[in-house]
Amino acid sequence: MTDKLSITRNQIEAALQAATDLPALEALRVSLLGKSGEITTLLKSLGELPPDERRQAGQAANELRDWATNAITSAKVEITQSQQASALATESIDVTLPGHRRKIGRLHPINTVYAQMEELFTSLGFDVLEGPHVETVYHNFDALNSPHNHPSRDEADTFYFNDNLLLRTHTSPMQVRAMESQKPPIRVVVPGMTYRRDEIDATHTPAFHQMEGLVIDKGVNFGDLKGMLELIVRHVFGPDSRIRLRPSHFPFTEPSAEVDITCYACGGSPTGCRVCKSSGWVELWGCGMVHPNVLKMSGIDPEIYSGYAFGLGVDRITSALYGITDPRLYFENDMQFLGQF
Ligand code: DAH
Repeated sequence: MTDKLSITRNQIEAALQAATDLPALEALRVSLLGKSGEITTLLKSLGELPPDERRQAGQAANELRDWATNAITSAKVEITQSQQASALATESIDVTLPGHRRKIGRLHPINTVYAQMEELFTSLGFDVLEGPHVETVYHNFDALNSPHNHPSRDEADTFYFNDNLLLRTHTSPMQVRAMESQKPPIRVVVPGMTYRRDEIDATHTPAFHQMEGLVIDKGVNFGDLKGMLELIVRHVFGPDSRIRLRPSHFPFTEPSAEVDITCYACGGSPTGCRVCKSSGWVELWGCGMVHPNVLKMSGIDPEIYSGYAFGLGVDRITSALYGITDPRLYFENDMQFLGQF
């Protein structure tokens, strides 16, 4: 038995000399130590020996297995190291080659404006809420005091799923959801996408961006609203910006107003320009004092509380800020356009 083993060890040494690369060494390992390898088979056959021979033979066979395992492992390490050494000696790296410039992503200009406004509102103690884009007709219209014959409810203007569900036409339904889920004082803004069945042209896109604001507390008045609007405009457009309020009508506010800012293109010059249609002013959003019916419907007593709301047109604000004249650009994912911001 011992003789048989010593022969095998000599054979292994010869085979190791002959195996000059990693695949050959692996093949050798499998032929010796694999499931039906020679040494494995030898170890399995020890049981057939008479008991007095078994101990010595077992020890020798185990030693052989350990020796072969180590010898093959060190031969593999040696080959790997010498391959690396020769690669380092023959290959070289040209450190003067220009690298691959990584394209760094940036915020979409709409998101930059959202972030800028959220920064202002959170610093004033507002919560930022997001709401469902698929809304109920109740939240989008009824709870906002919209009469059944209001033109905005028309099928031609709105994406309906069925009689009760639609793509929200504005962020105002979140006024209702905020009042349903919070007790006054309430201070929230709601950024998000809104949808109307508009033909795409130079001033309309069927999806657009709004930011709703709602403040409900005791004793809130129109002066508070005006002060807040001025603060927003100065924060976004700079300290010299001026606003103008024009009486308007929204079913969910009374009184209601449209907010104009001095034209960003001509600075509000007396003769105006193309952007402001010669008026010197650009219309940016709607606002007003929350209608008592709206408060009542959402469970807030209008005798105790009052509030104001506004709906900022974020696409228009962004266009005004960056001088962008076509809102379609916000939706086309043109990297050349987006890369400028
Ligand atoms: N929801 C209106 C729209 O999309 C904008 C608006 C007007 C929002 C007056 C308001 C508001 O909160 O008070 O046209």
